[in-house]
Amino acid sequence: EKGGYEHFMLKEMNEEPKTVRDTLNPRIVENDVVIEELGMSDEEIREIKQIRIVACGSAYHTGVTASYVFEEMARIPVAVEVASEFRYRNPILNPTDLVIIVSQSGETADSLAALRLCKEQGIQTLGIVNVVGSSIAREADRVMYTWAGPEISVATTKAYSAQLIALYLLSIKFADVKGLLAKEEKKELINDLKKLPDQIELLLHNKENIQKFATRYIAAKDVFFIGRGIDYAISLEGSLKLKEISYIHSEAYAAGELKHGTISLIEEGTLVAAVITQQHLYQKTISNMVEVKSRGAFVLAVTNEGNTEVEKAADYVIYVPETSHYFTNSLAIIPLQLFSYYVSVGKGCDVDKPRNLAKSVTVE
Ligand code: M6R
Repeated sequence: EKGGYEHFMLKEMNEEPKTVRDTLNPRIVENDVVIEELGMSDEEIREIKQIRIVACGSAYHTGVTASYVFEEMARIPVAVEVASEFRYRNPILNPTDLVIIVSQSGETADSLAALRLCKEQGIQTLGIVNVVGSSIAREADRVMYTWAGPEISVATTKAYSAQLIALYLLSIKFADVKGLLAKEEKKELINDLKKLPDQIELLLHNKENIQKFATRYIAAKDVFFIGRGIDYAISLEGSLKLKEISYIHSEAYAAGELKHGTISLIEEGTLVAAVITQQHLYQKTISNMVEVKSRGAFVLAVTNEGNTEVEKAADYVIYVPETSHYFTNSLAIIPLQLFSYYVSVGKGCDVDKPRNLAKSVTVE
């Protein structure tokens, strides 16, 4: 059932264009975002004063990305929290909050407990869930499905990509209802969303180059991922992907935090992956790349086509096609997923079933 692929993870990465299309298309109607299942009137949307996104692992990382998108595009404050923290902190919730629980399986114990806690307090909840009929899908007040189909590999790829799309759509919808999107801007955003599947496809075609690059790092001890803003959120996911399937110690840092401790870990040849897709932060991240490079790091940059300026601070550059700055995660994550995959394969790890991990964490 691997459809001719060596691993489910590779199969599922190759399904990402379709997954993105399937999650997007039913919700784009004549150049407008229509999320019927949301069942909220414009009035109700305008009443939302804060969004709380609660999730675990990669789903939490989509929430981190979404926090930047919602705040900038829809001007709604967002608090993102890992479910295992949220549920035990006696969170202060308000009737004007919307709590979004993101979960591929819909069965993650902590996420489900967080959802129940919100419901007990009468706070409105929205599940972004992949498995139809799962506990979170059944219990949330509203559910928006990601149409990724069954995901077998423990390391999530296509469901993660679909979650991002669901969150982008919500953000456009909320921003539009609040009157924050000019007609032209909305049209451009929707057009950029529609282009994502083909652009992802293109990035997947580059797999041989990434494979070659990855084989140089199968013996790495530590890898660091750095970025700012949405690029920081992408770094979090890039790092998790690598550590969970290759067993290489990796960490993601907000690039501006390097100087506050982490930079002492850089040694001759340490791989630092810099994600640099946010134009207004280019110069800031380039300075951080220069700092680690001058201390011996080998710098891999993932950046937008045309941003050749990074070449002065990077040893290897992967370019991703142009899209709205809100959506770059959907593209930049593809080479990072491929990188993790090929490091794992190169090391001979059990890619689809990494040690100590379960696909769905149904116990605390
Ligand atoms: O099923 P869920 O989306 O609730 O799962 C959340 C995490 O357990 C999951 O994303 C995990 O971090 C993945 N193994 C990451 O690839």
